[in-house]
Amino acid sequence: MSKTVLVLDFGGQYKELIAGMVRGLSVYSEIKPGDMPADEISGMAPVGIILTGGPNSVYLAGSPRCDPKLFMLGIPVLGICYGMQMMCHMLGGEVSSGVTGEYGRVLVTPGDPAQKPFLALMSHMDAVTQLPDGFAETARTGSCIAACEDKGRKLYGVQFHPESKHTEGGRGIIEKFLHDVCGASKDYKLDDYIDTQVAEIQKKARDKNVLLALSGGVDSSVCAALLSKAIPGRLACIFVDHGFMRQGEGDEIERVFSKRKLKFIRVNAEKRFIAKLKGVTDPEEKRKIIGKEFIRVFEEEAAKLKDAAFLAQGTIYPDIVESGGGHGATIKSHHNVGGMPENLAFDGVIEPLAGLFKDEVREIGGRLGLPKFLVNRQPFPGPGLAIRVMGEVTGEKLDILRSADAVLRDEIGKMKRKPDQYFAVLTDTRSVGVKGDSRTYDYVIAIRAVTTGDFMTCEYAGLPHSALRRISSRITSGIPEVSRVVYDITSKPPATVEWE
Ligand code: XMP
Repeated sequence: MSKTVLVLDFGGQYKELIAGMVRGLSVYSEIKPGDMPADEISGMAPVGIILTGGPNSVYLAGSPRCDPKLFMLGIPVLGICYGMQMMCHMLGGEVSSGVTGEYGRVLVTPGDPAQKPFLALMSHMDAVTQLPDGFAETARTGSCIAACEDKGRKLYGVQFHPESKHTEGGRGIIEKFLHDVCGASKDYKLDDYIDTQVAEIQKKARDKNVLLALSGGVDSSVCAALLSKAIPGRLACIFVDHGFMRQGEGDEIERVFSKRKLKFIRVNAEKRFIAKLKGVTDPEEKRKIIGKEFIRVFEEEAAKLKDAAFLAQGTIYPDIVESGGGHGATIKSHHNVGGMPENLAFDGVIEPLAGLFKDEVREIGGRLGLPKFLVNRQPFPGPGLAIRVMGEVTGEKLDILRSADAVLRDEIGKMKRKPDQYFAVLTDTRSVGVKGDSRTYDYVIAIRAVTTGDFMTCEYAGLPHSALRRISSRITSGIPEVSRVVYDITSKPPATVEWE
């Protein structure tokens, strides 16, 4: 019997949060396209269905719809935001466009006086103004129906986002739907995932060898740990050190993986990469050159290993969902530095993390004994510090940036509440300063620290002034080539997280 809860996607940016929250509540969940046919859905026999939000209005031509037969399957449904509006509209209710928009945290008052009002994240223009037959209103805000239900048909709707951490008790609402309405059993365990994947890898690789491009990022690191558990001694990892890692990072990666039962090959290619970037200042060109060179180095090293039959990749579930594809042996398109070699012949591709969300990958990494600095690593762009040095990249500039970045990470690392991502940027501006009694004309370092949930948007982090002062003072006094430190106070949009 299936124990899956399906998350049907209508374009909501929170689909992964919903599916991740369901899994966090020990119920297995998968994301599927919103228009998945009802007979395919019943073929999967899910215990429940969640309809996500989305940017559309139900009245817009071509706005996405689920299969109307979905509501007749007898499977419990929870519609969130657009999901609730679409369900109510399709079942004969009314939705008003653009009359009662609410954005941010709004007070929701349950109809049941025994339940306390709570703050919930709202983000909508349209709202349900008349419920379909059989539905009852169960909560409202000052201006709209916030929740509804048709208990008989097990159909539920919420206008707010219970999957957001900005909704008080949101997790409890999802939990109630899963357990009280769907009757889902709490038996999804990550330990099972490790065991089944170990068995799968052994079955697929048989007695052959496997090759992995190890970047030192979370996904490829956890992939390496899982593979070395499954096929000890038969995994080769190629770590192309392009020279754009942060201070000490390449050595740390080598230290961690040299201890594991795998063949660790580190290629120190800094000179080669810097030579390719000589005179290049355009950010996109830099990225392309680094991506291409990375593949070239990897291919050269892989060609020396004659006996690798399989290529392993750290593809994770959101990579597959985002590229709209199913599981398969296609080469990961989201690779850190731009695609993987196509002209290397392998018997197949092994992607043991393809069913997992990022948080789950981190948890598995911890269970497999990887150190915290690796599994909790902040996002780090494939082209590394090369896109944090503005303009032409040189060895000297990289050294300056590495030192400044190390100070920043040390200071912020001591804080209790850390931003989601923080790093230093070496600008291509020089400014006049005075050190001792002499005039200087040196580099300007910019500090970037952001808070974000999904990295699609972000706010600059309000770092305490005392910390900024310490960072600035340590950088300008410790790094002779830097005369000034500035703090980037731009959100995304309009800026991006990275400067290039
Ligand atoms: P942007 O600069 O696009 O960054 O606002 C959003 C997030 O993505 C990270 N980033 C990358 N990650 N390869 C990656 O794996 C890349 O080429 C890349 N570029 C940016 C960035 O650090 C931020 O977390």
